[in-house]
Amino acid sequence: MKSLAQMAVEVLSTADGRAKTALSHAHAAAWRAARTGGARPEVGTAQPPLHPARPAKPELLKPRDVPRRKPSSPEGRIAMLHAVAHIELNAVDLHWDIIARFADVPLPIGFFDDWVKAADEESKHFNLLCDCLEAHGSFYGALPAHAGMWQAAEDTKDDFMGRLAVVPMVLEARGLDVTPGMIEIFRKAGDSQVVDALEVIYAEEVHHVAYGSKWFHFLCGRHDLDPVVVFHKLVRGYFHGSLKPPFNEEKRAEAGIPPDFYWPLSETR
Ligand SMILES: [Fe+2]
Ligand SMILES: [Fe+2]
Repeated sequence: MKSLAQMAVEVLSTADGRAKTALSHAHAAAWRAARTGGARPEVGTAQPPLHPARPAKPELLKPRDVPRRKPSSPEGRIAMLHAVAHIELNAVDLHWDIIARFADVPLPIGFFDDWVKAADEESKHFNLLCDCLEAHGSFYGALPAHAGMWQAAEDTKDDFMGRLAVVPMVLEARGLDVTPGMIEIFRKAGDSQVVDALEVIYAEEVHHVAYGSKWFHFLCGRHDLDPVVVFHKLVRGYFHGSLKPPFNEEKRAEAGIPPDFYWPLSETR
């Protein structure tokens, strides 16, 4: 069996979205199978690429150049699905990247179990959204997407705690804030395929945020650091802009992120 870090680099080096996520599922299944019965398969080390391989389409534009469309129109809703599919594909790479990039840090095996599971779920999310796009006569790559999604990964490539603070605990937590509104838009439009996909995503994303919080706190404990103080310092250092309320306090609490983590970083501070 390949080491987990090697498997991560293989996913990161695969460009096509459906192929990347198929490999991600296969590697996650191999890891799960190897872990049954409490075995400790090799994590190993491998050099992840600075930028993961991506398909030629979608064209990546600066956020301000991506055309805005109203969610009240069918085209607007397709654009919204396309944007979320893009986020999910980035998330697949982000989770495999954290596995490979920080594989030299000694960690309990549970850390790898969590991020393999998260990467597996993001792969499912991407495919669910691609299925929805295709059911509407579109596909991932049909529209331009945001460049700069990978910025947070690049900024924190040498800072493990910074990565945990910004990716799961800020960016994925933001997903918990905005997903209920998105589900409502598609419910009103009578689009049950999308509602079902988004419900799956919404339920599973809580765990990804929780993994972030769990391992962030673990590292704070290891280094005898105050989690709230360090979190604020890292987010102010790596995240450009302030956090936007309203916050989904209920789901954030479920994911182990108390209000004193995010309110002081919000626009209203
Ligand atoms: Fe996701
Ligand atoms: Fe996620």
